[in-house]
Amino acid sequence: MISINPFSILAETVPPIAMQIFIITMVVLAAVGTILDIIHKKNVKYFFENAKKAKLSATKKLSNSERISVISKTIVSDIATTSELGAGKRRAAHLLGMYGTILFWIGSAIMIFCYSSPSSDTPSFWPVIWHVGAIMTVVGGGWFWFFLRVDVYSEAQPWYRIIKADLFVLALVAAALTGLIWSYLQSLNLNDRWDDKVFLVLFMVSNLVLFGGVYWSKFAHMFYKPGAAIQKNLAEADGSRDNLPPESDAPKQFGLGITREDPKHY
Ligand code: HEM
Repeated sequence: MISINPFSILAETVPPIAMQIFIITMVVLAAVGTILDIIHKKNVKYFFENAKKAKLSATKKLSNSERISVISKTIVSDIATTSELGAGKRRAAHLLGMYGTILFWIGSAIMIFCYSSPSSDTPSFWPVIWHVGAIMTVVGGGWFWFFLRVDVYSEAQPWYRIIKADLFVLALVAAALTGLIWSYLQSLNLNDRWDDKVFLVLFMVSNLVLFGGVYWSKFAHMFYKPGAAIQKNLAEADGSRDNLPPESDAPKQFGLGITREDPKHY
C-alpha cells in the first residue's frame, strides 16, 4: 500500500481534473480564510505599525548583509526547527506534525497534478512520501492533542474535551488519518464494497473542514509565526527590542520551588 499512488487508482472512477480542481479549491479556501482573518483581527496592520514604531528606538542601523544573516538564521532555527518551543516533547511533536503535513501536501500535489491517470507510472518515492507524511502528522498531532495541549497537560481537563481551538489540529489529524485508511482499503481491491468510498468521503470532508475553517482555526499561524519570528530577531539585532526593556543582568532568584517540578501551570 505504501508505494501505491491512491490517486491513480481513484482515477479509474474519478477524472483527474476533478481532483485537481479540489486541490485548487483548498488553496483558494486557505488564502481567502487567511485574508478574512487578517482583515478581522487587523493583526498584520498592527504588526507593521508596531515594527515602524519600534524602528524609531533602534540603536543600530542594520546593513543589508546583517539583515540577510538575521533572516537566514531565523529561517534555519526559529522556523525550520520551531525553536520557540524549546527542547522537549512539545517541539518534537510539532516537528513531526509540521514536516509530516508538508510531506503529505507536497506528495498530494505531485501525485494529483503529475501522476493521476490510471495509466500513470508513479515513482514509488511519491506514494511513500505521502504515506510517511500522513503517519507523521497523525503521530505528531495525536501526541499534541492527547497529551500536550495546555488544557490537558496543565489544566487537568479530560483529553476528550473538545473546544473551538481544537478545530485546526483535529481537522489536520482527521485528514491524514482518513487519507491513510482510504488508501489502505482501496489497495485491498474491495471492488463493490463501500468501505473505501466511505473513507474517501471522510477524507474529503476533513480537508474541507481544515481548509474551509481557516478563518475560525489556528491554521494561519503557519504564515504569521515566521513573519513574527523574523521581526523579533531583527528588532533584537537593531537594538529596538520591540520597545521592550532590556533583559535584567540581576541573578535569577525564583526560590527553591522552581526546581520541584517542570513549569506547566500557565
Ligand atoms: C505546515 C506547517 C505547520 C503545521 C502543520 C503546524 C501545526 C501545528 C499544530 C497542529 C499546532 C497545535 C495547534 C493547537 O494549539 O491546537 C501548532 C501549534 C504551534 N505552532 Fe505550528 N504548524 C506549522 C508551522 C509552524 C511554524 C512555521 C511555526 C513557527 C515558526 C509554528 C509554531 C507553532 C507554535 C509556537 C505552536 C504552539 C504550540 C503549543 O501550544 O505547544 N508552527 N502547529
